[in-house]
Amino acid sequence: MNKQKVFLDCDPGHDDAINIMLAHAYPELELVGISVVAGNQTIEKTTINALNVCQYLGIMDVPVAAGCGNAMVKPREICPEIHGKTGLDGPTFEPLVKKADPRHGVQLMIDTLMAAEDHEIMVVPTGPLTNVAMAIRMEPRIIQKIKRIVLMGGSYQNGNVTPAAEFNIHCDPEAAYVVFTSGVPITMVGLDVTRKVLCYPEIVDRMAKIDNKASHLFVDLMRFFNKTQKEVFGWEGGPTHDPVTCASIIDPELLTTKFCHVSVDIKSEESYGRTNADIFEFFRRGEPNCDVAVDINVERFWDIIEQGIRYYGDK
Ligand code: BDR
Ligand code: CA
Repeated sequence: MNKQKVFLDCDPGHDDAINIMLAHAYPELELVGISVVAGNQTIEKTTINALNVCQYLGIMDVPVAAGCGNAMVKPREICPEIHGKTGLDGPTFEPLVKKADPRHGVQLMIDTLMAAEDHEIMVVPTGPLTNVAMAIRMEPRIIQKIKRIVLMGGSYQNGNVTPAAEFNIHCDPEAAYVVFTSGVPITMVGLDVTRKVLCYPEIVDRMAKIDNKASHLFVDLMRFFNKTQKEVFGWEGGPTHDPVTCASIIDPELLTTKFCHVSVDIKSEESYGRTNADIFEFFRRGEPNCDVAVDINVERFWDIIEQGIRYYGDK
């Protein structure tokens, strides 16, 4: 089988952790590296979280490296109200033996991509885009190595931290600007679809029944995540944002997308960090540069999560 190589860039983060679980589980994917970024918590905490998740799931050979702890221009923003004090409140882990790769996360990304064939690797960012933008600026030759960037971020409708902006883009709009103007093919998995995959208690119970180590992790993560989502947004089930990225690589039919021009607002005050997706071609201000996810097969998504968890039955 021809495995699709994926490089994750993440800020775990409950939903980031589930995306790591998927990327390692599926035989269709080969997880080649993980760079970590500050976002849901500080870089120290998100790095420990990534290492803990990898160790727990037996992902010992994949390098994990700490990347940028601050955004390009604006002050750092974190999200303890959703992800807790550690950034991954809920599960408990054994003492950590997996070590971070000594390279900077940006360097790990560059090294991994430069060692690849042209258009070989999918880069999957599920946090602020600081590392990816920095890597593009430091070593522009990586652009041709990337098959596609499949990112969780933005929305063509409303945001979740301001009426206009989604958290990952809002944390570092200038970095997002660099990525969206880089010329790399992009799939934008925004709130428009991730808010459709709500992890209701029935879903948590369904995954709990599998009763293996991945299901225990899923349950511990999502019970906490659902509690904070209820407190902050009033929802019964939290949107399982980040795993939509890998799920859409596993099943290319999962999403309905619209190829159009997306620009990141880095100039206005009210809409700072908004992804303006011209899906109705109102403005025609630029060439299409992004496949914007506009719909998702929700049932299929949960089947992919379930199968991903089941793969750990014998791992
Ligand atoms: C995004 O923000 C983070 O809190 C989640 O991990 C996800 O990547 C959703 O806006
Ligand atoms: Ca995330």
